[in-house]
Order: sequence, then C-alpha cells, then structure tokens
Amino acid sequence: MDTKDFWESWWTKAEDEGWDDTPSLFAQFAFSYFPKEGKILELGAGLGKDTRYFAQHGFFVVSTDFSDKALDASKWESTMQKIMNIEYQNIDIKNPLPFKDEEFDVVYAHAVLHYFSHETTDQIFKDIHRVLKNGGVFATLLKSKEDPEILKSLKLSENFYQTPQGIVERFFSVEEIQAETDGLFKPVVLDASEQTHETENATFIRYIGLKIPQGSQVHSE
Ligand SMILES: C[S@@+](CC[C@H](N)C(=O)[O-])C[C@H]1O[C@@H](n2cnc3c(N)ncnc32)[C@H](O)[C@@H]1O
Repeated sequence: MDTKDFWESWWTKAEDEGWDDTPSLFAQFAFSYFPKEGKILELGAGLGKDTRYFAQHGFFVVSTDFSDKALDASKWESTMQKIMNIEYQNIDIKNPLPFKDEEFDVVYAHAVLHYFSHETTDQIFKDIHRVLKNGGVFATLLKSKEDPEILKSLKLSENFYQTPQGIVERFFSVEEIQAETDGLFKPVVLDASEQTHETENATFIRYIGLKIPQGSQVHSE
C-alpha cells in the first residue's frame, strides 16, 4: 500500500474508533526548551494533539500533514475547542517546504521523520534549518534502533524495515542523528529512552537542537 493511502485509512479508522486529545509526552518535555512565544511549524501533525497544546500555550502554529483526513479531523477539533491561532496546510515533507527563510521560531516533528531515505532526510533537515530563525529550536522524536518493533519487522536494507503494519520505517542510532544534523543544529537533548512515548515497549530518540546560523557552521570531527 502507498504510504499516503496507509495514513489516510489509519486516520479514518482512528476517527471511527475515537481518540483522546492528550498531548504527547515529548511535546510536554520539548515545550520547556521553546521560546516564550512565537511561530511553530509542526510537520506530520496527525490529529493535532500537540498542535493544540502549543496553540493553547500562546504560540501560532502552522500545522501540517499530507493526510487530508487527519487535517480535517484536527481542524474540526480545534474549532470545537475554539482554538483560533492555528493554520492548517497539506504538505508532503518529501517536497521543499513552502515557507520563507527564517520564518519559524520552532520546527517540531513527533514520530514522523523516520519514514525517509538518508538522502531525503538530509534534504529535510537542511530545509528545516532554512525555515528556522537563527537560534530557533528543532525538536523531533525518532524511532530508535533499540525499538523492539525491529524484531517483528522485515529488514529491507541497512536501518530500513517493513513493520508489521506494512510501512517502511528507518530506525536511528544517536550517533546517526548526531552526524546527520552536524553543522545545522547544536544538540541540547539527544538520548534514547523507553519513557519517551505513550506506546509500551517502544524506544524513541529525543532530539532537540538549536539552529546554528548560516556561515558559522563548524563541523565536529
Ligand atoms: C506516527 S504518525 C504521528 C502523528 C502525530 N505527529 C502524532 O504524534 O500524533 C505520522 C504522521 O506523519 C504523516 N506523514 C507521513 N509521511 C508524511 C509525508 N511524507 N509528508 C507529510 N506527512 C507525513 C502521517 O500522515 C501521520 O500523520
């Protein structure tokens, strides 16, 4: 199944079955590293639980996903809760981000940047760097190589697996994230833990980095 079709039917099912609007553990953790106010870009926002959490704390949030189903459900929920400081956009992260340079104070992506090839991930990280203000915060939660799901998945190539749900995911190590973000962001949090996600027996890597201004990028050895 095509990845986009997978997510459309995933969110259709979630809507039918009902869902709660509690923000993720990582959103609540990452929030303490955000500036006091400003503009957040959320990538792959799904039903928008974290979007609404940030908006309720006074940020203007550009909430994006490539699933219309997820965006519609999220928009509906925000309207019901009378949260107005959110703009919704259908964006496929594989494409260049349709935003100006240095437009955002924060770029946030929860459990979404582990679906792409090395090449595409590098391009996404560079584009996130471009749209962030100098000193802006990039916060993301990514699947870890320690995740037990890897044992139930089919290995396709180094670091890439087809999960039991039928989608291809990349599993990261702390060192790989460090290397791929080197020169773009200065990490302030980079660790792997089982306590980073609501799903039981799942291990994710938390990454929070500050944008290194262009021209002052020094790569580590
Ligand atoms: C695991 S869900 C996480 C959703 C949300 N961030 C959360 O934690 O509740 C992954 C999300 O990424 C979105 N997604 C996957 N690939 C994408 C792409 N290429 N462009 C935009 N969104 C994508 C899916 O539609 C889905 O909403």
